[in-house]
Amino acid sequence: MTIRPADLIERKRNGDEHSAEEISELILAYTRDEVPDYQIAAWCMAVYFKGLSGAETFALTDAMIRSGETLDLGAALGRRVVDKHSTGGVGDKTSIAVGPIVAACGVPVGKMSGRGLGHTGGTLDKLESIPGFRVELTTDEFVSQIRDVGMAIVGQSADLVPADKKLYALRDVTATVDIVPLIASSIMSKKLAAGADAIVLDVKVGDGAFMKTLEDARILAEQMLDLGQRAGRDVVCLLTDMDQPLGRAVGNALEIREALDTVDGEGPGDFTELVLDACARMLAFSDLGVDVAEGRTRAKAAVCDGSAHAMYERWVRAQGGDPDPAMLPRAPVRIAVPAPRDGVVTRLHALAVGHAALELGAGRRTKDDAIDPAVGVLCFAKRGDAVLAGDDLAEVHARDDSSAAGAVEALLEAYEIGDVAPPERGILLDVVG
Ligand code: URA
Repeated sequence: MTIRPADLIERKRNGDEHSAEEISELILAYTRDEVPDYQIAAWCMAVYFKGLSGAETFALTDAMIRSGETLDLGAALGRRVVDKHSTGGVGDKTSIAVGPIVAACGVPVGKMSGRGLGHTGGTLDKLESIPGFRVELTTDEFVSQIRDVGMAIVGQSADLVPADKKLYALRDVTATVDIVPLIASSIMSKKLAAGADAIVLDVKVGDGAFMKTLEDARILAEQMLDLGQRAGRDVVCLLTDMDQPLGRAVGNALEIREALDTVDGEGPGDFTELVLDACARMLAFSDLGVDVAEGRTRAKAAVCDGSAHAMYERWVRAQGGDPDPAMLPRAPVRIAVPAPRDGVVTRLHALAVGHAALELGAGRRTKDDAIDPAVGVLCFAKRGDAVLAGDDLAEVHARDDSSAAGAVEALLEAYEIGDVAPPERGILLDVVG
């Protein structure tokens, strides 16, 4: 090793810029266990205070990609490959609805997803609530399934970007997760290593997201866009509302049911809007040669003519799952959450709903916790909805009476009911790129 990690920490603490070679050596040596966690933790904290330049962030991303294997899906399929990624939020089941719709339009979808930690559930956990569904496929099985069926969603291979796995686990326990260049490089390294030619990013904004304000979300979006462009890929970032949960369902099997309803054209308005937007952008980036408006028309047509539903069934069966929604697990206890007064919902705090679902068992507090696939919350009333005292604001799906009672209380806290309707705010707040 030609670098001295302690020097790099000191120089970053003083606000100096590193060369690409220095960052590359630091990250690759860390991946090989040649630099201890405490030095990388100190370096991340220095980055928190002093930041990284665009060139440094790209060097970090590039080094993380080179820490493991990469996949060239485009070459394997002989097609242009389009991927999507969300920065994560409460009730975010977007990929599960977008995948079958885009694939039904003739564009291959191959997605590597993560598990959830904390209040934001992961796509893999949601898919595993489908009886029999396998998320662990070999790379060969993954590629063959995309070729033969049209789509696959699997767990990320351990060989892809191992540096991120190590770094993320360290950041998680050293208060260094919410640092824009580290988030941008973490997300983009995984997308670039998986071989996407074009990437649609959904950057969540608000109470239930990493980025609490539109300004911060824009900065993250611009950095991810910059990384994509430096790597020669097409990127667009949708900045979308995560001040309240997405759709109605929060909880694994409940979210699968809602994703399928949306594939069938019967999903909640905000979620449907986001799904169609993401599909339109992905189709516009694909090799179909259509623009965003035509992409949206085709996505809607795939929903209306049932081809998206048929694709959902083929995909789930190909991964060993039973696509019949009646086979999804159901919680034994269901309790309504009544509105305490007449009025209009002025806020529905996403984070509080996420925590209520977590307490019910829908998420994990530590990475070894088991998830209860059946439990969660359905939020019937959303921001701007008028309610009468006693109306069902939400419904809690629980394993037992005592956890249900706790969730009802938490949800009553999560809802704010006032007399004046809040300003209207659509799901799509801005587009960067
Ligand atoms: N998601 C990631 O994959 N990485 C981060 O750093 C934050 C969110």
